[in-house]
Amino acid sequence: MEFPFETKLFRETDTIETAKKFSSCLVPGDVVLLNGNLGAGKTFFVKYVCKEFAIENVSSPSFAIINEYINSKKIFHFDFYRIKKETELYDIGIEEYLSNDEAIVFIEWAQLWEGILHHKSYVVNIELNGIDERTIRIIKCQN
Ligand SMILES: Nc1ncnc2c1ncn2[C@@H]1O[C@H](COP(=O)(O)OP(=O)(O)OP(=O)(O)O)[C@@H](O)[C@H]1O
Ligand SMILES: [Mg+2]
Repeated sequence: MEFPFETKLFRETDTIETAKKFSSCLVPGDVVLLNGNLGAGKTFFVKYVCKEFAIENVSSPSFAIINEYINSKKIFHFDFYRIKKETELYDIGIEEYLSNDEAIVFIEWAQLWEGILHHKSYVVNIELNGIDERTIRIIKCQN
């Protein structure tokens, strides 16, 4: 996969294929921000990236704020949607999660609290164009 990457997604299998390709680019220490409206497919995308790491039980972290998974890779999966104050993030130990070089970090709704992030490796944007049409854009960031 080359960056910036952009493609249209017409069905779930298109997203799964993109997730699979993207997974092979990821290394421990990467921080991946995911932006896009409710139901755009952020969790769906992370689920299928994790499947490549033999992690099968990925679910939305929107209530828990963070889900942790470990198999062939260690994953921290955040959702900032329900975070109302920056202090909530510090209370859950965001700094320690972000500084863990052994984990790959995914953050849904990262744009809400992007100011607290010191570095990001990739930004994934999923735009819902219609009922069955999405555009995914992935940018690789310089750290
Ligand atoms: N091409 C597609 N890619 C991803 N999801 C799709 C696609 N087509 C249909 N869907 C469906 O759209 C839904 C996307 O939901 P998902 O929970 O991943 O969204 P989200 O962006 O994480 O939303 P939220 O902001 O609430 O966390 C899933 O139910 C999925 O099955
Ligand atoms: Mg989600």
